[in-house]
Amino acid sequence: MADEKKLRLGVLGSGKGSNMVAIAEAASQQDCPFEIAVVLADVAEAGILARARERGLDAEFIAPGRFRTKLDDDAERAYIERLAAARVDLVVLAGFMRILKGEFLRTFENRVINIHPSLLPSFPGLEAWKQALDYGVKVTGCTVHLVDHGVDTGAIIAQRTVPVLDADTPASLHERIQQAERSLYPAALTAFATGRVKIEGRRCLGMSFGQV
Ligand code: GAR
Repeated sequence: MADEKKLRLGVLGSGKGSNMVAIAEAASQQDCPFEIAVVLADVAEAGILARARERGLDAEFIAPGRFRTKLDDDAERAYIERLAAARVDLVVLAGFMRILKGEFLRTFENRVINIHPSLLPSFPGLEAWKQALDYGVKVTGCTVHLVDHGVDTGAIIAQRTVPVLDADTPASLHERIQQAERSLYPAALTAFATGRVKIEGRRCLGMSFGQV
């Protein structure tokens, strides 16, 4: 596929970057319909930045401003400008631990997607794998969804299930969920980039359960 036709991704993260690495590996395959244009993090020492730079990707820390759970107005503007400068088509949240709102979501309407480590709408918010373990469910998983103004409430693009085992600790369950994330996210991005995902209100068609 010619480079100019690829969907340009802006990946945002706060953590170690295993999803970003999976996306970068998929992007390096011939004929992949997407490419990473830029990687941004709100934590200066986040592993995602080092792992992106190791791969020769453009990666930058942008300070989040004075709030703990969201970007302040100046920071939000800085993120929007950096993503626009990189000519990003789709914003991909990969462990970005701040809520995006107002101006950001208006600028990238229906063009911000996230991966969450549970089968939404169960266990939104923080440490979803721990919430699942504490609740006692036997099956959990991961969800790729559009980002809207709520917390983990946007329309669901794709989901994959993961079993919860008797011997699981929060760490072992999170690792199993992350393995599923590393294949689900690139698959969802491929579907998105090739126009297979159709948004009809709350329903995103094109990636039925079992097909991915
Ligand atoms: C992933 O497990 C992702 O699902 C989770 O953060 C982790 C980031 O890992 N995201 C959330 O909990 C968002 N609510 P990574 O930095 O290794 O990709």
